[in-house]
Amino acid sequence: MNNSPVDDMFGGFHDAKDRHKFLSAEITKHDHAYYNDDAPLVDDAAYDALRAELLALEKDYPELADKNSPTQKVGAAPKSGFQKVKHNVPMLSLGNAFSEDDVSEFIKRIQRFLNLGEGDKIDIVAEPKIDGLSCALRYESGKLVQAATRGDGEIGEDITANVRSIIDVPETLPAPCPDVLEVRGEIYIRKDDFAALNKAQEEKGQKIFANPRNAAAGSVRQLDPTISAARPLRFYAYALGETSAPLSDTQDGIRRALKDKGFSLPKPYGVFDNSKAIMAHYDAVSTGRAQMDYDIDGIVYKVNRLDLQERLGFVARAPRWAIAHKFPAEQAITTIESIDIQVGRTGSLTPVARLTPITVGGVVVSNATLHNEDEIKRKDIRVGDHVVVQRAGDVIPQIVKSFPDKRDDDSAEYSFPTTCPVCGAHAVREEGEAARRCTGGLTCKAQVIERLKHFVSKNAYDIDGLGEKIVLQFFEDGLIKDPADIFTLEEQDKGSLTPLRNREGWGSTSANKLFDAIRSKTSIELPRFIYALGIRQVGQATAKMLAANYGSYSAWRSAMLAAADIESDAYQELINIDGIGALMTQDLIEFFKESHNLTFLDKLTQYVTPQDYAAPQSQDSPVSGKVVVFTGTLEKFSRSEAKAKAESLGAKVTGSVSKKTDYLVAGADAGSKLKKAQEAGVKVLSEDEWLALIK
Ligand code: IVH
Repeated sequence: MNNSPVDDMFGGFHDAKDRHKFLSAEITKHDHAYYNDDAPLVDDAAYDALRAELLALEKDYPELADKNSPTQKVGAAPKSGFQKVKHNVPMLSLGNAFSEDDVSEFIKRIQRFLNLGEGDKIDIVAEPKIDGLSCALRYESGKLVQAATRGDGEIGEDITANVRSIIDVPETLPAPCPDVLEVRGEIYIRKDDFAALNKAQEEKGQKIFANPRNAAAGSVRQLDPTISAARPLRFYAYALGETSAPLSDTQDGIRRALKDKGFSLPKPYGVFDNSKAIMAHYDAVSTGRAQMDYDIDGIVYKVNRLDLQERLGFVARAPRWAIAHKFPAEQAITTIESIDIQVGRTGSLTPVARLTPITVGGVVVSNATLHNEDEIKRKDIRVGDHVVVQRAGDVIPQIVKSFPDKRDDDSAEYSFPTTCPVCGAHAVREEGEAARRCTGGLTCKAQVIERLKHFVSKNAYDIDGLGEKIVLQFFEDGLIKDPADIFTLEEQDKGSLTPLRNREGWGSTSANKLFDAIRSKTSIELPRFIYALGIRQVGQATAKMLAANYGSYSAWRSAMLAAADIESDAYQELINIDGIGALMTQDLIEFFKESHNLTFLDKLTQYVTPQDYAAPQSQDSPVSGKVVVFTGTLEKFSRSEAKAKAESLGAKVTGSVSKKTDYLVAGADAGSKLKKAQEAGVKVLSEDEWLALIK
């Protein structure tokens, strides 16, 4: 750039022009990645910030807004991302069955839970598991008002505009129709439509989709509904969500009612009352699967009676009354080029096989997990081996076996490293543990990085504009050393010689947007806060249980410190929380024993305030908040059903009697717990008294 008087006359025009060129190129690149590749490179917030800056620049320098500017292009729909939608009835996932044994265990489990004998028959509906993406359609007074993706099961994305064009999604439903009717099902693309779509994409020089499911997902995620409308999307209904009046009292009845209302239903379909008949159906569908119009990845079995579904309820994120019976995994043979070791958040060393790329069931696979040291030994996997790889659904590809007789003479057994490949610290394997772990702790760069990535992930802090890539960039730049530093970024930036707004790819708007987004997360839900800490074994469900049990950060923290003494009440309380076993208890205690973790918590809570947490519970239940213990043989229901019911009414069910127990429900032949309760003055109820109480 020369410094002619013209430059001065325009005052900064050349700078603006450079910036304009940079922003235009970035936006064009992102548009391409988003619209053509269905593979966005940045999140919507980062993209929006780029566009906002470009618009602001063109306002100051209108001459830059020529017809080539991305702001002038038709077709680049205004991007605001999708609105969030809360599911009043959560959209859950399904447990899996892989064998006949799993299926009969599923049925037996139901019989046990409902306290039925093995001879008592239960009708089970079987229908294909469509390999697409789930969608909830909300009808009010018979009109389609909203369509949402599943998202995390509780919050999804509003895709109404894209769904309206799907041919088998009715816009209006015939009367009579409940005021609110939420129809759930799967958006998918038929195999023949998929082939035609890919052919057209190829001719246009556009992205080829790996499989119908990816194509469907990519098409629904278009911000421009005209693009979705041009894609051959279809919809199969399979269940109801929120409804103001029941359509039927069976799953089978719901299917018929939905058909009458104009929905398409997946076939083949049947109602069976024993696992032999179910298996015969499974085998028939499995054989005919290749000839079906659309991809299915298994069969879903659901208890037909809705009253029984209601009694069976849910465990974690899946219903007890349904299961997905998966088809066997797809396999292929390839070779192992090398074995790499990845270091996880908690230091575990995971071996990963780098493979000669191979297509397995329509997807190119070049990596497979080898799980751990023992797995490699057990299967005698070596570099250079010919191996069978398999993938099933979304799971990480696995190595099934190798072919020792095909080995070269110089093939050598794999020797697992005893030092961390990243930081060089000793990697040790504690007794009873499958994983070897790096002992470098937070001096190990890999662990620090993984911890940061976990902290900003979707189910943890989920800060708009601060994805994995950017947080790692800040880490490399020395701006962030631990997750708490995220909250000092704005302050650091103020005094920095290279403030964000002057860096390539950034501007004032995007920098301010990021700081706003970070600030908005300084108040955070307690379960997210706990989960974000990345404590070994503490996933989302456990974090929620801990939050529900302790209610506040300070109560949780002091309880965890106190639990280090295994004689303490705090220890008893922790280990008694349903779903938290002895191993997890140990990991929690260990975490709080490390002084650097406490220092970190202190630093973090200088900036962020975890909100107090009250587990959602039915307000008017006479047992909400009460601590209940069941003992002895119950007659009216199984122990599991009793427990699930009590919990759904807001009670806390524990395994042993303590000072905190409110009720002991004693069935026949109650033993030591009854004695202990009587001694401690705990109120003892018979099964009938308990039923009367919760009625
Ligand atoms: S019933 C409480 N029926 O599978 C969950 N789901 O792995 C009830 N799916 O998210 C789901 N075909 O998107 C049901 N015939 C079918 C299905 C089906 C596909 C999907 C659904 C769900 C996922 C669970």
